[in-house]
Amino acid sequence: MMVRRLFVSLFSIGAIVTTVNVTASANEPIQPIKAVKPENPDLVELGKMLFFDPRLSKSGFISCNSCHNLSMGGTDNIPTSIGHSWQQGPINAPTVLNANMNLAQFWDGRAADLKEQAGGPIANPGEMASSHNLAIEIVSSIPQYRALFEKAFGSDKVDIDRATTAIAEFEETLVTPGSRFDKWLEGDKKALNKQELEGYKLFKSSGCTSCHNGPAAGGTIYQKFGVYHTYETESKIEGRKSVTGKDSDLHFFKVPTLRNVELTYPYFHDGAVWTLEEAVKIMGKVQLDIDFNEKEIASIVAFLKTLTGEQPDIKLPILPPSNNKTPRPEPF
Ligand code: HEC
Ligand code: HEC
Repeated sequence: MMVRRLFVSLFSIGAIVTTVNVTASANEPIQPIKAVKPENPDLVELGKMLFFDPRLSKSGFISCNSCHNLSMGGTDNIPTSIGHSWQQGPINAPTVLNANMNLAQFWDGRAADLKEQAGGPIANPGEMASSHNLAIEIVSSIPQYRALFEKAFGSDKVDIDRATTAIAEFEETLVTPGSRFDKWLEGDKKALNKQELEGYKLFKSSGCTSCHNGPAAGGTIYQKFGVYHTYETESKIEGRKSVTGKDSDLHFFKVPTLRNVELTYPYFHDGAVWTLEEAVKIMGKVQLDIDFNEKEIASIVAFLKTLTGEQPDIKLPILPPSNNKTPRPEPF
């Protein structure tokens, strides 16, 4: 009942936001991803350099790309991330791909947008363990960087606001259009085979789309993980409750995107589940009280794999060297 009501209200919101052009996909709960054209390529290029620059970390070794590896679907493919001094992180790293479509950032939505998010890991002692001041001192000690700030912003002032603006602008370009599912949505009926189509139908009819919807097939709402049954986990993470303080928000999480989910294993906020088959089985049981049989699971998994899009075509940036004035890294 709850799920159905949710579906209706979300569907109408989705319809308002996304009816840009009326295609075959107009009535579908998931819409195709559109390619993006950056308005300020200099800003994107600067953001890309900062995303790849390990000097934003205390050790000089960890970059955004260490945990959101763009060679591997924008994740680290380990249960929970490894931070400064090999610290064990508390939570699984979500993908940065299509993250611009999220209603807010982080599993619990504690950052409003990509720019606010980008400041977090730099100063998080369990991640990059630097400080905004130190990171900015390092970047601004490098004249080639200052020249790039000048190009992107019109003056060579380096500050955290500009640095996170640039990183966020780069992340805006990390979208993955052109998946087989998108081709199907856009009218190429041969883009999916019979099993994949059956999987999609089952995905809709079972109620998965009440939570996983919109262009990213997720990222549009917070929902409880454990609607019908408790999800057994050793993780102490409370989800939305840690932002709102409300007991009723315990174990509510931002519904993750299912775009590129084939690449972003292991699954769930605790990263405890390695296979899509297991993840689908758990979702059916815990969120919808459905026991899928093996054939049904296989078809949903086959559908989910059609959500893998064209990965951003990244040319590895060559970073300007540190100089005599640049603060040194502290790896140990
Ligand atoms: C040590 C590993 C690590 C590093 C380094 C790191 N991240 Fe993350 N990132 C994570 C983890 C873990 C989360 C999830 C944290 C949470 O939700 O509480 C996350 C969350 C995110 C999200 C939110 C995605 C979503 O769906 O909510 C974005 C965007 C992001 N990181 C971008 C960045 C950027 C940009 C940098 C560099 C400035 C960076 N990360 C550095 C591990 C890392
Ligand atoms: C009531 C909302 C809801 C429904 C219904 C739902 N999901 Fe989810 N889904 C979530 C939430 C919330 C998470 C994140 C859980 C966590 O790790 O905290 C999630 C996570 C996932 C993941 C793991 C993604 C990742 O990157 O870790 C997969 C795969 C998935 N869902 C597939 C499905 C399928 C298939 C169905 C239908 C059988 C479904 N979901 C139904 C809310 C829902």
